[in-house]
Amino acid sequence: MPRTAIIGTGFHVPERVVTNHDLAQWMDTSDEWIRERTGIEERRWVEDGTTGAEMARRACESALAQAGIDADEVDAIVLGTLSPDHFFPGTGVFLQRELGLDGIPCLDLRAQCTGFVYGLSVADAWIRVGQYRTILLVGVEIQSTGLDLSTRGRDMAVLFGDGCGAVVLQATDEAGRGVLSTHIHADGRHAEVLWADAPSSVGHPLISVDDLEAGRQYPRMEGREVFKHAVTRMPEAVHEALDAQGLTADDIDLLIPHQANLRISQMVQKRLGLADDRVYNNIQRYGNTTAATIPIALAEAVEQGRLRRGDLLCVVAFGSGFTWGSALIRW
Ligand code: COA
Repeated sequence: MPRTAIIGTGFHVPERVVTNHDLAQWMDTSDEWIRERTGIEERRWVEDGTTGAEMARRACESALAQAGIDADEVDAIVLGTLSPDHFFPGTGVFLQRELGLDGIPCLDLRAQCTGFVYGLSVADAWIRVGQYRTILLVGVEIQSTGLDLSTRGRDMAVLFGDGCGAVVLQATDEAGRGVLSTHIHADGRHAEVLWADAPSSVGHPLISVDDLEAGRQYPRMEGREVFKHAVTRMPEAVHEALDAQGLTADDIDLLIPHQANLRISQMVQKRLGLADDRVYNNIQRYGNTTAATIPIALAEAVEQGRLRRGDLLCVVAFGSGFTWGSALIRW
């Protein structure tokens, strides 16, 4: 059975930089509060009219160039997002159209902050059974257009950024290389701890003037509850993956945790006993870009030469749903 290798990485973030000081002009917050609680210094937000598909196309083009393959070798697209360009048909088909890849399957999946890990799990299974050989796996979000920029929404608005990361996955027979295993979970008992109530198909209409006035279209979160679960589930998922492979945390060359909050990443790092140079964080510059955080961080880590052939890469995520998961990849 072939394994799944990551043969190319790429990312795209909007040019517009929004600093904590910018946010403090629109809501009652401060650079100090945001840095101290989250580690975030700035984030990128799209200009009006930018689409997720457009950002995804740029990230995919970089990933394909790094892989050294043409777009027409791609057999399928798997795209994680909680902020699709349109409620339906999502974002993946628009990306497919931009890449000129008519006919290949496009799967948009949710799983929020765990979207990339869920997507990797699905794409890896397709590749291992031989259904597809080359897959574009994408995480893309436009969060900024859905945030409440008044003081009412400050707990959420300061956290999120826009951007896209993409990887090219391809079947490989090279001994020891590729995805070793993926481990994904969910617990819907906590669905409303981090969610957007509207638009909702349960409502009639999908969204009402009352909903808008009450701000039900904005994401809401019980921050402390999310924090508590994240710092438990993420190390647990890493250990699950290591145990499945008969490895220990000492074997990890690079950990890329989902970028939700620098404090969460630091606690995960501490619980795993990893030195600073074995964990990659970039939330300081991008905030939480949800499904895009891991592939953006991975693309940056590759650019910086942080991964060498044979290294053990671990990715781990936790997010709305709750959903969480991990994967081990031999680079
Ligand atoms: N600026 C200034 N003050 C803010 C603020 C902001 N942006 N957001 C909230 N506050 C205030 C609160 O109103 C509260 O004030 P009060 O004590 O007068 O009521 C105070 O700060 C503390 O709020 P709290 O929510 O208890 O802060 P916290 O220490 O839990 O930190 C988070 C908040 C969001 C940073 C933290 O809970 C967190 O990171 N949670 C996980 C978030 C996450 O990962 N989400 C994505 C999931 S993948």
